[in-house]
Amino acid sequence: MAAPADRATPGGLPAGAGAPAVPDPCLLVIFGASGDLARRKLVPALFDLHREKMLPGGFAVLGVSRTAHTDASFRERLIAAAREVAGAGFDAGAWEAFASRLFYHPGDILDAEGFPALRDRVRSLCGERGIPGNLLFYLSLAPKHYAAAVRGIGASGLSAPEEGLAGFRRVVIEKPFGNDLAGAKILSAEVSAVFREEQVFRIDHYLGKETVQNLLVFRFGNGIFEPLWNRNYVDHVQITAAEEIGVESRGDYYDGAGAVRDMLQNHLLQLLALVAMEPPISLSADDVRDEKLKLLRSVEPVPPGMLGEACVRGQYAAGTVRGQAVPAYRSERGVPPGSLTETYVAARFTVDNWRWGGVPFYLRSGKRLAGRVSEIAIRFRPAPYRLFEDTACGQMESNQLVLNIQPDEGIFLQFGAKFPGPSICVQPVQFRFSYEQAFGGKSPPAYGRLLLDAMLGDAALFPREDIVEVSWALLEPYLERWRENPGQDLYYYPAGSWGPGEADALLAREGRQWRTP
Ligand code: BG6
Repeated sequence: MAAPADRATPGGLPAGAGAPAVPDPCLLVIFGASGDLARRKLVPALFDLHREKMLPGGFAVLGVSRTAHTDASFRERLIAAAREVAGAGFDAGAWEAFASRLFYHPGDILDAEGFPALRDRVRSLCGERGIPGNLLFYLSLAPKHYAAAVRGIGASGLSAPEEGLAGFRRVVIEKPFGNDLAGAKILSAEVSAVFREEQVFRIDHYLGKETVQNLLVFRFGNGIFEPLWNRNYVDHVQITAAEEIGVESRGDYYDGAGAVRDMLQNHLLQLLALVAMEPPISLSADDVRDEKLKLLRSVEPVPPGMLGEACVRGQYAAGTVRGQAVPAYRSERGVPPGSLTETYVAARFTVDNWRWGGVPFYLRSGKRLAGRVSEIAIRFRPAPYRLFEDTACGQMESNQLVLNIQPDEGIFLQFGAKFPGPSICVQPVQFRFSYEQAFGGKSPPAYGRLLLDAMLGDAALFPREDIVEVSWALLEPYLERWRENPGQDLYYYPAGSWGPGEADALLAREGRQWRTP
C-alpha cells in the first residue's frame, strides 16, 4: 500500500498546504428544490461543506419550487436524506446550525406572476443574513425547462445587480445541456442572452469526484507514467461507468435521455478527455479546458458505414441484481411499455493525434449491471512471449493500470511475477493504492466541491460551451441514425449481467475483451 509522505490532518489539508479559499457571502437559490437532486445530493453536500467550515458566514439557501412548503417543513424534508447520506456519523447538532441557513419560497420560475414575490424574498433574505447580494442560481429542474428558467431569471430582474443587491450573478445548469447538438446551441443562445460565459457553470458531477480530479495529478504530477502514456506502450483504454441501480423514480426524465445523453455525452467523454489530453500550461479554467477541447476535437469521426460496429446500445430486461429479482426497464414507473430508450451504451473511439493514433478507447455505461464500478483501465502492450514459450506459463496477461473512480477509490498496477516453485510460471499480481488507507475516510462529495467552486467563480471543473458542443457533435452521427430508426443498434440484456453480448463482440472483433471489474 502507498503511504502519503505527509499524512493529511483529519478533515483538512496536509501540513504546509495553504488554507482553502472561503467564498464571499452569497445566497444559493435552488430552483426545483423539492426534487430528488436537491434532497439527495445538493443539500447533503452543502451540509458537508458547512461541517468542514468551508462556507462563508453569510451564506443561505433559498429553495424554490411549486410544492407548498414552509421553511420548517422544507428543513424537515431534508433532514431524512442528510441522515441517510451521513449514516452513523450524522451530527444532529451540526445539522441544527446548518438547517437555520435553509429557507423556502413556494413559487415557479416559469410563472412571471410570481417574480415580484420571489425578488422580495431574495432581498429580505439577503438583508437578514448579511449577504451583500451575491446570487448563485441552481437549475435543479427537468432539462426541458432550462431555457424558460433562464429567461425567467432574466425577466425577473434577478440576473442583474441592483442597488441593495449588488455582487455576482452566476447560474449552475445540470446536464444534459441540450438534447443534441442543435438543442445545445439553442440553449446556449438562450443562456447567453441573460448570462455571460464566465457566469455560467455547466455541471458534470463526475469532474468533482476526487478520483477524477486526481487524473491530472496522477498523470502530470509524477515522472514515471507520462512517458508510457501513448501509442508506443498503450494497447487500448477502457472506461467503464457501471451501475447496479435502475432508473429508480426518474423514469420520466430518463426515458427522454437514455444512457447516451445521460452518461456518454458528458461523464464518459469528460473522462476520455482527462485521460488522453496533453498537459495544460496551467491549472487555470481556460488552460485546462483548452486542452480538453483540443483532445475532443481530435477524436476521429466514425465513417457512416461503421456506425453500427462502433457503438452498441442495450436495454435491461427483467433479471436479478444482488439476488433480488428486478423488473425490466419497460416495466419501470414513468417508462412507456414500448420504450426504445437505451439503458446501456458501449462505444469505440479513436483519437487522431501523434500520441494516440490507432489506440482504441472503449467507453461503456449501463444501469442494472452486475456491479457498481466506475474505472479507467489502461491496457499496455504485451511483452514479447518468446522467453516464456517453453515454460508452463500459458498465456501471459499484459500489464494494466486501473484507476478506480468508485466505489473502491484507488489505483492499481497489474504486472507479472514468478509464481514460487521450481518451474517458471508467471502470475499477475498488483501494486495497490487506496484512498481510504492513504488519506483516511471517504472522499468529500463531488457536488460539494463543485458548489464551492461555483461560489468562488472557478470554472476549471465545469465544461465550457465549446466543449459541450464538440461532445454533442461527436455523437451526432449516432443520434441522427437513431432518429431515423429508433430501435437500431439496441439489444436486450438481463438485469444483473454485464450488458448485451453484442458489446462483447465490439471488442472481440479486435481480439480484445472487456475487463470484468
Ligand atoms: C447522473 C446520471 O449524472 O449520474 C444518473 O443522471 C447516474 O443516471 C449518476 O445514476 C451516476 O452518478 P454516480 O456519481 O453515482 O456514478
